[in-house]
Amino acid sequence: MKTVLITGACINTGVAIVEKFASEGWNVVFTGRSDAKVKEALKGYKDKFPDADIKGYSLDSLLDDRTVDEKAVAELFSDLDEKGIFIDTLVLNAADQGLGITALKNPLTDFMRVINTNVVWNYCLSEYAARRMIKNGGGNIIFINSNTAYRAIPNRIAYSASKGGQLGMMRAMALDFGKYNIRVNAVLPGMIRTDRWEKDPEYYKNVPSRFTPLGDVACGSDIADAVWYFAAHARNTTGAELVVDGGNMIQLYPDLKRK
Ligand SMILES: NC(=O)c1ccc[n+]([C@@H]2O[C@H](COP(=O)([O-])OP(=O)(O)OC[C@H]3O[C@@H](n4cnc5c(N)ncnc54)[C@H](OP(=O)(O)O)[C@@H]3O)[C@@H](O)[C@H]2O)c1
Repeated sequence: MKTVLITGACINTGVAIVEKFASEGWNVVFTGRSDAKVKEALKGYKDKFPDADIKGYSLDSLLDDRTVDEKAVAELFSDLDEKGIFIDTLVLNAADQGLGITALKNPLTDFMRVINTNVVWNYCLSEYAARRMIKNGGGNIIFINSNTAYRAIPNRIAYSASKGGQLGMMRAMALDFGKYNIRVNAVLPGMIRTDRWEKDPEYYKNVPSRFTPLGDVACGSDIADAVWYFAAHARNTTGAELVVDGGNMIQLYPDLKRK
């Protein structure tokens, strides 16, 4: 039986990824930041998948605005080691969205927080997972990246920088880890329908990135399907980027008149 570790999976896209792997019969380990949220999410998963082996851990990327909590990552992996759980596939979904961070107003620590979570912490998780994958003969690391790695959106400097950095890291890891039979790939969503969408439908109805060639944005299961492809099917694929954005990135500008 294979096991996947999915970060940031108490809400939104992470939930869809957990549900995809659980419905395919995998064991699932997921993380959220607070004990209460992890407990609540775990209850929901157990109700929906009573036969699946699903475990939740609370894990925050940061000790403070400047420091990644490596000790918490080490403790998570030693706990999994003690329980005899090997992570075949690591899905790096959690992210600091870095909303509204601008170079001219925010303190440097706001920028550092986003980079630390989206790049440094993911590096740390990948390192701990890869050490074990090497011993086990291989594995998979999958980044949930973003098309903002290539195309900027307003007031998201830290986020765009983090996603661009993450892609460089993904390719470099794919190169270094290939000889250990570890594949490293990235899914690049455009806009995804999340609870933020439900909370502010008027804003999302008019947001330019909604006007895609396909006329729609992704839902969580579209992202989960792309992750599943890398985890379960893409035997000869590493260092690859799978864009799931309704074609948003191929446009010079969105057709805002399109309903
Ligand atoms: N939503 C979009 O339109 C969109 C578009 C392109 C790419 N993406 C990417 O897709 C992925 C999922 O997006 P989403 O919108 O579903 O995410 P989300 O709703 O913002 O959820 C992010 C998750 O990351 C966790 N997280 C945030 N900061 C953290 C930290 N400092 N330490 C540990 N965990 C932390 C959150 O934990 P808590 O539950 O504890 O808050 C949450 O579970 C992300 O990588 C995002 O960058 C999203």
